[in-house]
Amino acid sequence: MTAPESLTDPESLRERALDALVTARDRTALLTSCVDEPELTAQHSPLMSPLVWDLAHIGNQEELWLLRAVAGREPMRPEIDGLYDAFEHPRAERPTLPLLPPEEARRYAADVRGRALDVLESSTLRGTRLTEAGFAFGMIAQHEQQHDETMLITHQLRRGPAALTAPDPVAGPPFTGPAEVLVPGGPFTMGTSAEPWSLDNERPAHQRVVPAFHIDTTPVTNAAYQAFIEDGGYQDARWWAPGGWDHIREHAIGAPLYWRREGGQWLRRRFGVTEVVPPDEPVLHVCWYEADAYARWAGRRLPTEAEWEKAARHDPVSGRSTRYPWGDADPTPEHANLGQRHLRPASAGSYPAGASPLGVRQLIGDVWEWTASDFEPYPGFAPFPYKEYSEVFFGSEHKVLRGGSFAVDPVACRGTFRNWDYPVRRQIFSGFRTARDGAA
Ligand code: AVJ
Ligand code: FE
Repeated sequence: MTAPESLTDPESLRERALDALVTARDRTALLTSCVDEPELTAQHSPLMSPLVWDLAHIGNQEELWLLRAVAGREPMRPEIDGLYDAFEHPRAERPTLPLLPPEEARRYAADVRGRALDVLESSTLRGTRLTEAGFAFGMIAQHEQQHDETMLITHQLRRGPAALTAPDPVAGPPFTGPAEVLVPGGPFTMGTSAEPWSLDNERPAHQRVVPAFHIDTTPVTNAAYQAFIEDGGYQDARWWAPGGWDHIREHAIGAPLYWRREGGQWLRRRFGVTEVVPPDEPVLHVCWYEADAYARWAGRRLPTEAEWEKAARHDPVSGRSTRYPWGDADPTPEHANLGQRHLRPASAGSYPAGASPLGVRQLIGDVWEWTASDFEPYPGFAPFPYKEYSEVFFGSEHKVLRGGSFAVDPVACRGTFRNWDYPVRRQIFSGFRTARDGAA
């Protein structure tokens, strides 16, 4: 990896950390100021926390890591730590807790932030592993952005009129390139030891041999997914993994979440507005079982996590793995649909400037992409700085998602970034692309 200079020079890193923290807080403020107090404290779905829990939890994690761990400060409000510990209280239970009311939660998060910025200003950004290259500040900015995506999921689940709006992506010309790309076989470097703000599960860099495979040039579209529905895909056990077939029967699932059939067409609800499902957009709000079933129906399969990362990072000319499909430069709006600039994916085939050297598009941004793989540690994994970020989730019950959605900020998205969830989850901004084996 050839890191941009701003990733190695301490003054640039300080600026980068400040910018990432400020960007995250602006987004948090928007997501928690566009609805009234009763809506902030309500639970919009048993799958999610009340928004006011996310708000104070963001502040509490920042206090824990930047004020206590980095700067050695005393707890500001030790009595609230338990309330905002994600492991002490499952989401469904959070509305019954004596949470800080909205104004107090805002004040607490702002208070922590004021002190954290002082810590950032005076830190050498060297020394311990936590402060080296500003890691803890980058980790906390990513944590806040991850909760900003979580809060956007809550906004999408919420009933009632729209609280958020954003311009639509500018429609490019319809994509007319090849449907799939051949990625040659051989070794590539997976994961990273160099990216300064990479999280523990992305580390360390290691060699993987990945045989040749074909991968879709773009994510699977709504039109393609509708063909699966109309072909009776949800009624045919042949296409479904065992647990998936039982799951869709039990919950009477026959289309992506938020879809509804009316007057001979598919409609969807998106942030408080009902609209016709746009045929050219990547399919969104499908679970792993649905992605897996579609792929089997199409005579294909989901890519493994290693295949996905090779498609996204391997440069066949230099043999190097890059930070992003387009190279090592930080994402710009020309590369990818990230950061909640739009509240929907862009049509399939958008962002030619973000394509990989082999021409694979939209690997970063738009929709999280389900992979075939379970969430497992890389060889040489070491939990850092806490086991509850990744280690406790390793195992066969979680599937890996890659690439980030329109809802994730660039600071929390890169070619090595790993997300995971249960195979039944579909309130997340999830889609997929398919693959098949290459010639032997
Ligand atoms: C990596 C998105 C699965 O939201 O559960 C937030 C991120 N970890 N706070 C999650 C996270 C701790 C995590 N995911
Ligand atoms: Fe968290």
